[in-house]
Amino acid sequence: MVELQNNIFIPRHVAIIMDGNGRWAEERNRPRLFGHKAGVDSVREVVETARTLGVAFLTLYAFSTENWGRPSSEVTGLMGLLKSFLQSELRTMLKNDVRLCCLGQQDRLPTDVQAVLQQTIAETRLCSGMTLNLALNYGGRNELVQAVRNLAEKCQEGALDWQDISEATISDHLFTAGQPDPDLLIRTGGENRLSNFLLWQACYTELYFTELKWPDFKKDQFLEAINIFNRRQRRFGKTGAQVKAE
Ligand code: IPE
Ligand code: IPE
Ligand code: MG
Repeated sequence: MVELQNNIFIPRHVAIIMDGNGRWAEERNRPRLFGHKAGVDSVREVVETARTLGVAFLTLYAFSTENWGRPSSEVTGLMGLLKSFLQSELRTMLKNDVRLCCLGQQDRLPTDVQAVLQQTIAETRLCSGMTLNLALNYGGRNELVQAVRNLAEKCQEGALDWQDISEATISDHLFTAGQPDPDLLIRTGGENRLSNFLLWQACYTELYFTELKWPDFKKDQFLEAINIFNRRQRRFGKTGAQVKAE
């Protein structure tokens, strides 16, 4: 069992690239969807752990804009799992005061998934214990294109002066508008890349890569990541001595 260190700082926003489900299943000579199903158990456990620890925002990368390129049977299977996850978790979310948000353009998702998603977002909108962001049909570049188009439209209509566009204005036009940037980004599955995730928001995020595949990432592994995050010194461009003196 992993214990949290003394005087632990709980990151306000943790983002996770849940990778490795397919390989986890292949290692067991099972179809890839078996790995995705096992991954749902990790989602439940990590959401619960984050909520108990007092993480304010948890962002899970569930389906990227690039994932549409997978075999259609896998895409359909993933969408089915997503729908049943939302349906089965609504009561728990309400009980644990968890608000669901979606990062990504929902209109490309199957209409039945969109309906359940909209319903879950609406029913949990007043929950304030933790925000759970599900990144669905999410791409960091797509998000920036949407933001730029939105800003351009406002400038054209005269609602915004182009000279007033700042880093804050751009942040306010992303799917994560109003939310803090992630403090910690975890990627399971052994790959060391961002795969189009939170390109703007992860500007100063601490990155934590683990070889563990997502179905093997549970409460203890999450606590371990938080412990390791706590041993890092975030300098934001300053010197170590300056940060220590703060
Ligand atoms: C991550 O696991 C889940 C999704 C992308 C939906 P993968 O399906 O990418 O698993 P690997 O990387 O093939 O093992
Ligand atoms: C990233 O995983 C997307 C999600 C976890 C949803 P991928 O498995 O799609 O990433 P790449 O293609 O290996 O970079
Ligand atoms: Mg993968």
